[in-house]
Amino acid sequence: MSMDDRTCLITGSGRGIGRGIAEHFGKEGANVVVNYRSSEASAVEAVDAIKESGGDAIAVQADVTDRDDVDAMRETVHEAFGSLDVLVNNAGITKDTRFTKMSRDEWDQVMNVNLGGTFNCTQAFYDDIWNADEGRLINISSIVGKQGNFGQANYATAKSGLFGFTRTMALELANGGSTANCVAPGFTRTDMLETVPDDVQEKIIAEIPLGRFAEIEDIAATVCFLADEDSSYITGEVLDVNGGMDL
Ligand SMILES: NC(=O)c1ccc[n+]([C@@H]2O[C@H](COP(=O)([O-])OP(=O)(O)OC[C@H]3O[C@@H](n4cnc5c(N)ncnc54)[C@H](OP(=O)(O)O)[C@@H]3O)[C@@H](O)[C@H]2O)c1
Repeated sequence: MSMDDRTCLITGSGRGIGRGIAEHFGKEGANVVVNYRSSEASAVEAVDAIKESGGDAIAVQADVTDRDDVDAMRETVHEAFGSLDVLVNNAGITKDTRFTKMSRDEWDQVMNVNLGGTFNCTQAFYDDIWNADEGRLINISSIVGKQGNFGQANYATAKSGLFGFTRTMALELANGGSTANCVAPGFTRTDMLETVPDDVQEKIIAEIPLGRFAEIEDIAATVCFLADEDSSYITGEVLDVNGGMDL
């Protein structure tokens, strides 16, 4: 098995970590589905970069919280590349505030994207992953799901929910020979990190044993490892990529 004949969808891959994963898959020769919600121009750039590096790619607009959008995306993927082999549930948002000030809407929005989007996409592509030759489900969680984080009760809850979801999917997919794993990045240089004030960023770096934030490529390379045959016997795991923060 090589990534040459693998079709991979990464949700929220018009920018940030998702785009990094998409471009990494592209360099390995995969057929890549770049899903975006609003970042169309950047998603088109990602498609061009993937085609230049030897892969094939399409950009597909879909809001992962909308099941009709996700079902339409499945039709588009099937028409372009056939059945999916690898699904990476990456799309995520934060709505940070201390719990006593958190509105129910801020709670629900984070659940709807981080967990609801994962539900929609996994269910829509479940049969594809099951029927694939070594299908892969990879969920992008966070160190915050393990440790909690001040002002992120909604996000921490959603990200730790992915641990239970991943382990359950690992059990349910195993008879079909497919795996489900989770990647839990530490703090990574993307737009999401830009929302954290500078003084808080300095405090976080001081707590990272390797002394730096993750680069997008640190996360993308790990996801690619879990997508290819080298990881055939790994399932139900949470792989930490956090510079030693959780030792
Ligand atoms: N950055 C970090 O420090 C860090 C650490 C640990 C885990 N993570 C996780 O890694 C993943 C990616 O994070 P990031 O830092 O790359 O975030 P980001 O730069 O803020 O990008 C978020 C991505 O999610 C997409 N998205 C949001 N809502 C969506 C929806 N309803 N439907 C489809 N796509 C949607 C966005 O698409 P559009 O731009 O097209 O709207 C964008 O591509 C997230 O799950 C995040 O929780 C990040």
